[in-house]
Amino acid sequence: MRAYTLIAPAKINLFLQIIGEHLQQDQPTGYHSLVMVLQSVSLSDELQLHPLSGEARSLRLDPPILLHCDHPQVPLDQTNLVYRAAALMWQKFPGQPGVEITLHKRIPIGAGLAGGSTDAAAVLVGLNLMWELGLTQLELQELGSQLGADVPFCICGGTSLAVGRGDQLSPLPDLEGIYVVLGKYHDLSVSTPWAYQTYRQQFQASYAQTLEEQEQRRQQGGSGALLKAIAHRDGDQIGQLLHNDLEKVVLPAYPRVEYLRQQFANQSPLGTMMSGSGPTVFALADSAAAAEAIYAGVRGAIADPYLDLWICQLCNQGIQVQPL
Ligand code: C5P
Repeated sequence: MRAYTLIAPAKINLFLQIIGEHLQQDQPTGYHSLVMVLQSVSLSDELQLHPLSGEARSLRLDPPILLHCDHPQVPLDQTNLVYRAAALMWQKFPGQPGVEITLHKRIPIGAGLAGGSTDAAAVLVGLNLMWELGLTQLELQELGSQLGADVPFCICGGTSLAVGRGDQLSPLPDLEGIYVVLGKYHDLSVSTPWAYQTYRQQFQASYAQTLEEQEQRRQQGGSGALLKAIAHRDGDQIGQLLHNDLEKVVLPAYPRVEYLRQQFANQSPLGTMMSGSGPTVFALADSAAAAEAIYAGVRGAIADPYLDLWICQLCNQGIQVQPL
């Protein structure tokens, strides 16, 4: 049985519009119905999957899953999405050998960058190979949607339109080569359930109520112009059409994030926006030099030792596999 290294890229939201409650057979599921444009970026975690060592086997773990991580805040038990992904695979395919997973965390936690989801996606892809299950990408995505709404996208990555809970995906032309500067305070995280719940409390009255109304709202919602700009690879237009409804609740509650966004905007990027439920803010740039200028400008404007900044690129793939 082979061991594998998996590269698991982070994602940003170029567009996030909240339509209403997510409905199944006319009943709310607790999720929101969204229109999103999701984009992989080159900031990545790395995971190694090995068959359980003899020493670990003697621990008689049930399920036989052992997780290691170099980040002190990452839990190593069932509360971790990586562990849950491996446990789900074990439950679906019992009798397989156990697995030892080493997670090298580079994507910040609680950042709105789908760090946990992309790690879970990597485990699904990796165990499919290690256990020689032969599952298709679609089958892996169906399993992934049981773990979280962003997991299916993280498996395929690139640029995608995502509707429903965020797990109904249509691939879009890739935007490889556009640069992105990410900024996050490492002492600040935002809870995704909190962000959506607060949005619900404040804006529920304006939600589209029926499936028909939701479809109309999707058509009118402004994502069409962004899709056109993506098709034409028009960086200026893409920058101007970035949108995130969750900014309406996260920015007022977190003034440091609003300030960071303002400082990014002051550097005249193609566009700037908060990603997902935040608190990461990103800015797009059309060259490495422009990205470096944004990085230097924001670093110079905010003398906060807790502010982390990264320069990376939009990328056209999700989980990448390297046999060890
Ligand atoms: O799917 P995931 O576990 O990442 O979602 C975290 C939380 O974000 C959900 O429990 C829900 O509160 C909120 N959410 C939502 N609608 C979505 C996606 C997430 O309300 N489409």
